[in-house]
Amino acid sequence: MFREDDRASVERIGAAEDPGSMAADVRAGLLGVPKDLSPWPKYLYDERGSELFEKITTLPEYYQTRAEAAILEEHARGIFARAGCRELVELGSGAASAKTRALLDAMSAQTLSNVRGGSADDESTAIHYVPLDVSESALVGSARVLLDEYPQLCVSGFVGDFEGCLKSLLARPPWPGGRLVALLGGTIGNFTPEKRRAFLSRLRAGLGDGDHVLIGVDLVKDACLFEAAYDDEAGVTAEFNKNLLSVLDRELEADFDPSLFEHRAFYDAENARVEMWLHSKVEQEVPVGALDLTVRFGAGEGMRTEISAKFTRESAGEMFAEVGLDLVELYTDPDDLFGLALGRPEEV
Ligand code: SAH
Ligand code: TRP
Repeated sequence: MFREDDRASVERIGAAEDPGSMAADVRAGLLGVPKDLSPWPKYLYDERGSELFEKITTLPEYYQTRAEAAILEEHARGIFARAGCRELVELGSGAASAKTRALLDAMSAQTLSNVRGGSADDESTAIHYVPLDVSESALVGSARVLLDEYPQLCVSGFVGDFEGCLKSLLARPPWPGGRLVALLGGTIGNFTPEKRRAFLSRLRAGLGDGDHVLIGVDLVKDACLFEAAYDDEAGVTAEFNKNLLSVLDRELEADFDPSLFEHRAFYDAENARVEMWLHSKVEQEVPVGALDLTVRFGAGEGMRTEISAKFTRESAGEMFAEVGLDLVELYTDPDDLFGLALGRPEEV
């Protein structure tokens, strides 16, 4: 897919995606009551979806990326002082971000300080970045720019679904010194509770003794901050949400008219999560050719497209404990908007 001398490769991991699996997922989602595609957020991230998400991260209302970047500016060195590794595995890495750079800078500084006094040859100062994403365009773009910026960096990128290929990804022999497995951007919140537990159990099972995890969690706060962040003035999030309909048109020969749907986002305090929906403005029937299905929407009927769970210190600790991870530290920004949970396998 992409290779640059010995320093970088991007390849597919796991079996090639079964073309029938999207059809099966979407069929199940469209036939449910209510209609619900939120268990499969990965379909939001085609090339256009990844671009729109990048735009979301810069919106004035979308505080998450800035808050998480600020935490990393402040604490990335402390994180690597604890994790002490030369390999960063990043799940759902997306485009090369300031957050990834903050982690690579700190990992590099830590590696250099470890060899200080000894002979700092190329081998002992090299660092390894292992990004995994479903979006090939985001991944190849990020591998290219990071290689240019970090002469001591090796990149082994993988295109794949982190729900399906975590086991084989983590079974690869790590570089000496263990690894930090990061899942940033609040992506953990986009799993359904069942899928989240299954994902974290698989993650835990793939960790060695010296490995650490770093998971970004959006923190519980006032509902109006959430509602602004997921329904911005400029309408970028609405476009991101509606892009899912274009993905269905293209991949499953559907015929959605995005102008007949309305973007909605609200905070459900009881379940501590934001939900995104698309509501049909009119009564309509939409053919989905590849499923041999015509889907009926009543006027005002909604289809859930994404959930985004929010956490407290306590619920983040419970999420880790459930799967045998110790919460080493929850780093937060000064306004307590966002948290980065550092964990490691529980000591037995
Ligand atoms: N880490 C970046 C991007 C977060 S958006 C940030 O913090 O800004 C979520 C990312 O996860 C997207 O890049 C999307 O393509 C990827 N993603 C979503 N579901 C995925 C899955 N099942 N497997 C692998 N990557 C996935
Ligand atoms: N995982 C992040 C979140 O839940 C990013 C994200 C996914 C997002 N879908 C989104 C952000 C839609 C805004 C709108 O916030």
